Amino acid sequence: MRAMVYRGPYKVRVEEKPRPRIEHPNDAIVRVGLAAICGSDLHLYHGMMPDTRVGSTFGHEFIGTVEEVGSSVQHLSVGDRVMVPFNVYCGSCYFCARGLYANCHNVNPNATAVGGIYGYSHTCGGYDGGQAEYVRVPFADVGPTVIPEWLDEEDALLLTDAVATGYFGAQLADIGEGDTVVVFGAGPVGLTAAKCAWFMGAGRVLVVDHIGYRLEKARTFAHAETVNFAEVDDIVVHLKRATDGLGADAAVDAVGAEADGSFLQHVTAAKLKLQGGSPVALNWAIDSVRKGGTVSVMGAYGPMFSAVKFGDALNKGLTLRMNQCHVKRQWPRLLEHIQNGYLKPSELITHRFPLEHVAEAYHLFSRKLDGCVKPVLVPSA
Ligand SMILES: NC(=O)c1ccc[n+]([C@@H]2O[C@H](COP(=O)([O-])OP(=O)(O)OC[C@H]3O[C@@H](n4cnc5c(N)ncnc54)[C@H](O)[C@@H]3O)[C@@H](O)[C@H]2O)c1
Ligand SMILES: [Zn+2]
Ligand SMILES: [Zn+2]
Repeated sequence: MRAMVYRGPYKVRVEEKPRPRIEHPNDAIVRVGLAAICGSDLHLYHGMMPDTRVGSTFGHEFIGTVEEVGSSVQHLSVGDRVMVPFNVYCGSCYFCARGLYANCHNVNPNATAVGGIYGYSHTCGGYDGGQAEYVRVPFADVGPTVIPEWLDEEDALLLTDAVATGYFGAQLADIGEGDTVVVFGAGPVGLTAAKCAWFMGAGRVLVVDHIGYRLEKARTFAHAETVNFAEVDDIVVHLKRATDGLGADAAVDAVGAEADGSFLQHVTAAKLKLQGGSPVALNWAIDSVRKGGTVSVMGAYGPMFSAVKFGDALNKGLTLRMNQCHVKRQWPRLLEHIQNGYLKPSELITHRFPLEHVAEAYHLFSRKLDGCVKPVLVPSA
């Protein structure tokens, strides 16, 4: 089959690979219909994630059609159109039983913190991902779900990661009626968090980034106020002034390990790899919420420590909430919002590429060229 293959930092291409086989009776093989590229894939592409092996296939945001099922699969049949959450999880361990699908204890022998994620390095289990013609889906009775007849495929696609994660980000921000919420990062995750903050009762939503076309999207898609951090002297002072001097009630970090805005953090994280990521946006979030406020962290950070302003968080009495998203848990409410017309995930998609153009797609998304917000790969094109 044809599959995206990692060849080292900034090098990805399509190669011929053996088609995945059923390895366990509860596996399914899915023929991929659409596979998005996530901001998280950029951390892999930039060589930020430990144990990202040459030859591996990325892709944890995908939908497709069931091609083959193992002998014990009960809930899926050949020909079903399915959306597959990015978490690989067993559904029955201590953590899965508590809804912590991202922290499943049975799917990743390489780490005790994170569970399994498709196409996300051996640190996250070593599973090949969906940016390919076919993908092996373990625990096929647990994660994958038949796409409702009424749901557009592109909307379903974004439910498997970006939109579920954005919603989760707003949820973890503990937004109360009338609250002011600041979202750092106007990528698909931040844009969705900003939009969903309104569903949870926010009275004011501000989005911070430094890319003009993305801030424009924050105004049109999420109806948010926007601030370009490169155009103000000090973003924290600016946000404090904008919120009566006290600070916002809640903030969401939808930027993660490769945040811009501090030369020192960038060099120590991205260049020297002395930290698990550059926590610039996280520190801005800590500084710009009011005392007693909440910071929700969706941005991804690597396993090592990062220079986070923990003392300030402590002394301000902040609540810090975070995790990888437990994708399937978010679907019932998101499906309601989509069905009721409040949310149209596919509005985030700006580019569609045949799988063969994967190198161009990564380059464009990584450099934020051509107005790219969310690129999608189409293996059959
Ligand atoms: N927790 C999860 O389950 C989960 C799931 C999906 C994605 N993520 C993570 O969420 C983050 C965002 O993903 P995405 O797909 O939206 O990525 P993206 O790359 O499209 O967007 C990131 C945005 O942050 C902006 N940015 C950079 N530095 C900033 C700063 N200091 N302040 C404000 N904005 C800044 C960039 O300009 C960019 O627009 C990534 O770290 C990704 O790994 C986490
Ligand atoms: Zn992702
Ligand atoms: Zn489990």
